[in-house]
Amino acid sequence: MELFEAIRRRHSYRGPMKDQPVPREDLLRIVQAGIQAPSGYNAQTTTFVIVDEPEILDQIAAVDPRNAILGHAQALIACVAPRGPEPGSSRLFFGVEDCAAAVENMLLAITALGYASVWLDGWLRMEGRDETVGRILNVPPDHIIRVLLPLGSPMHQEEQHPKKPLDQRAWFNRHGG
Ligand SMILES: Cc1cc2nc3c(=O)[nH]c(=O)nc-3n(C[C@H](O)[C@H](O)[C@H](O)COP(=O)(O)O)c2cc1C
Repeated sequence: MELFEAIRRRHSYRGPMKDQPVPREDLLRIVQAGIQAPSGYNAQTTTFVIVDEPEILDQIAAVDPRNAILGHAQALIACVAPRGPEPGSSRLFFGVEDCAAAVENMLLAITALGYASVWLDGWLRMEGRDETVGRILNVPPDHIIRVLLPLGSPMHQEEQHPKKPLDQRAWFNRHGG
């Protein structure tokens, strides 16, 4: 799929998925797209846990049975960041930004390959879910899961949520025009 078509078609999908596993080859292509994202100082702080074992997917879905999105997922990519800079580092710390860049690359790759997903971040920040899912996935204590991408082949087609027109969000030369 052409890049601008993928940007246009990417949307947050929270509906049911087809009962079809996502081949590892596709999961690796998606994560490779994340790995190729830019990062501050090229520090490449984001790491990834690719989950395709049904028992582990079930354990994560059981963290919040009200969240149907996780129950639908055929696979899941957990994006992990250090909690803070390395001790003694004088560099600025860009763990969150690095992770966000990787996530957007992966969402576009997911779209281009015909899968659907949603950026789960707020959900992790509540009720200690980042810690609970981190324990399930063996994430070390000095790292944290920033984003979960549940994915699969969508049962139905949806559209990207509407965006404000460009002239309300972008201007040449001066903010506000
Ligand atoms: C930083 C961030 C956090 C998000 N957290 C959640 C979340 O916890 N749960 C969820 O269902 N969607 C979450 N989303 C998805 C947004 O709700 C979604 O991107 C937005 O409504 C726009 O829709 P679109 O993705 O179709 O353009 C998050 C998106 C971002 C960028």
